[in-house]
Amino acid sequence: MTTPIIFDTDPGVDDAQAIAIALAHPDIELLGLTTTYGNVDIDTATTNALLVSELAGQQIPVAQGAAAPLVKTKHPAPAHIHGANGLGDIALPAVQGKAMSSSAAEFIVEQVNARPGEITLVAVGPLGNLAAALQLDPAITGKVKQVVVMGGSIKEGGNVTPVAEANMFNDPHAASRVLTAGWPLTLVGLDATQRCVLSPADMEKIAAGQGRLGEVLQGSYGFYSDFYREFLGIDGCCPHDSCALAWLMRPELFTTARGHLSVETDGFAEGQTIFAPEGRPFLGERWSQTPVVEVCLTAQGDKVVEWIVETLS
Ligand code: BDR
Ligand code: CA
Repeated sequence: MTTPIIFDTDPGVDDAQAIAIALAHPDIELLGLTTTYGNVDIDTATTNALLVSELAGQQIPVAQGAAAPLVKTKHPAPAHIHGANGLGDIALPAVQGKAMSSSAAEFIVEQVNARPGEITLVAVGPLGNLAAALQLDPAITGKVKQVVVMGGSIKEGGNVTPVAEANMFNDPHAASRVLTAGWPLTLVGLDATQRCVLSPADMEKIAAGQGRLGEVLQGSYGFYSDFYREFLGIDGCCPHDSCALAWLMRPELFTTARGHLSVETDGFAEGQTIFAPEGRPFLGERWSQTPVVEVCLTAQGDKVVEWIVETLS
């Protein structure tokens, strides 16, 4: 049985790896890519989404979305991590296709209503598009099959501030709406994604299996893993966004817990995700006011990476 998904993304080196998986996996039906600013500006995100599908020889609908956060001022894109072009500043071929006329939020609402109960939304960037879709049609909460979000952190700490993960930090107001909307949601955060390291040898195998797309994945990986080497002392990179798909297709590789999530929207800890396990009494009611969701607590990193490499080689 195939799993129909809409993949919401800000490509981005690790986003491109994950898009390649969504395109390649025989059991994933990729209905469309919706794009957001984040790792790059919105136009670059859309170009990269089109490019990755074209290099894989596929024509996938791409709908452009959020250019900025809902409330806060946009931070400059992290060119030192993903490159100014989002793909490690390697030379890239021109893109042939263009984005559809519908916005990302319109595309999500239309698709979910056309196939109630079937579609999984996988979001691996700042969450403005999902927040906008909820604003357009709040009833989609009862019509999606599930929502998988790469973002946040339960006990791992943050990656852009000591407490905040990048996708949450980039648009905490959108994240708060999406994580507390009351739909079946799983958060795949740093506690799981930072257990996974894609090594240069893994990338060799992927490059060998992915043709022209493989060259872009490997070239951009070089730039991205320089960042990991310099700042985190890792030989390789964390394939954050691919982990959301790994959870979807191979949930047995993760451990999870259920509970209440909140996102700090302002102030010193903006973007921090706070998790209160279901049924655990804490002082005061405020920790357990949000709907119950599922969060990943850890992952079998070597097995997740094995699945990524197998899918792409
Ligand atoms: C997340 O932030 C982005 O830079 C990556 O693409 C990933 O979605 C990791 O914190
Ligand atoms: Ca991303």
